[in-house]
Amino acid sequence: MTDRTPLVIDTDPGIDDALAVLLALASPEVDLRLVTTVHGNVELAQVTENALRVLHLAGRSDVPVAAGARASLIHPQPERAGHVHGAAGLGGVELPPSPAAVDPRPAVVALAELLLSSPEPVTVAAIGPLTNIALLLAVSPDAAARIGRLVVMGGSAGRGGNVTAAAEFNIWSDPEAAQAVFTSGLPTVLVGLDVTLPTVLTVEGIARFAAAGPVGRSAAAILQQYVDHARDAYGTAGVVVHDALALTEAIVPGTLGTVRRDVVVDTTLGAGRGQTLVDRRSVSAAGTAVEVAEHVDPAAAVEFLVSRLARLDLA
Ligand code: RIB
Ligand code: CA
Repeated sequence: MTDRTPLVIDTDPGIDDALAVLLALASPEVDLRLVTTVHGNVELAQVTENALRVLHLAGRSDVPVAAGARASLIHPQPERAGHVHGAAGLGGVELPPSPAAVDPRPAVVALAELLLSSPEPVTVAAIGPLTNIALLLAVSPDAAARIGRLVVMGGSAGRGGNVTAAAEFNIWSDPEAAQAVFTSGLPTVLVGLDVTLPTVLTVEGIARFAAAGPVGRSAAAILQQYVDHARDAYGTAGVVVHDALALTEAIVPGTLGTVRRDVVVDTTLGAGRGQTLVDRRSVSAAGTAVEVAEHVDPAAAVEFLVSRLARLDLA
């Protein structure tokens, strides 16, 4: 496929991040050119090692991995999500080490160079805290302006939070960065809990790609901690792979129904910190609105994910 869309994934692997990266690699519509890592589910060094190993698992250690911000922009947010993703971030699964080394360039430099050198617009999928994207806007606004689409996994319009009562984890991890990104005017799609929570990957779906071969089997093994956590915490027989839904929108634009809205991030230090306040009154003339995903076909999204992941072992 010649007209593949150049893609960058900014990520904090993370179980659902791993699934999202594998989904991109299984999708001929996109050409994964770069992975940048950011603090989040676990520490920066670990998410970076995890990114290298997930790419190697799929036979794609050729994709460069550049490490980014190890902490949020302004206020330290040291709390990670090891209790959900496992202490090392991949559900306790030890993937084989990659032969590739981390790209020596900082993530912002690698991303800026790719954006400035790409003749066609680049889609950036940001599925961790938005610190790297905010830094790109500050350090290289000309490069940021060349982003064709920014698809963000984060926030919640009306589903409350998952890390606090008010906030979703990625936004809560760096609210100031999120505010900078959502008011930048970049062409942004916000894929939040409103559409990810209804999109449940069932154990039956996991079994389908697990049966496809070693890559699918490893993906299923990585998911197992997520499955156990969902069962124990929520009594559900399936998992919400938030980041994979954001990548689905990045791969097939228009998968989700969106509405143009202004989004304000609570950057105070109180109980609401990290909340995304979606303004349903009107769209401001400032041009800073984003496309907020409000509609999803969960069954179709899950089938897309499962069928694509099952292809990985056919490659
Ligand atoms: O709230 C879900 C988000 O937080 C996902 O990106 C998950 O990987 C965690 O980082
Ligand atoms: Ca993530």
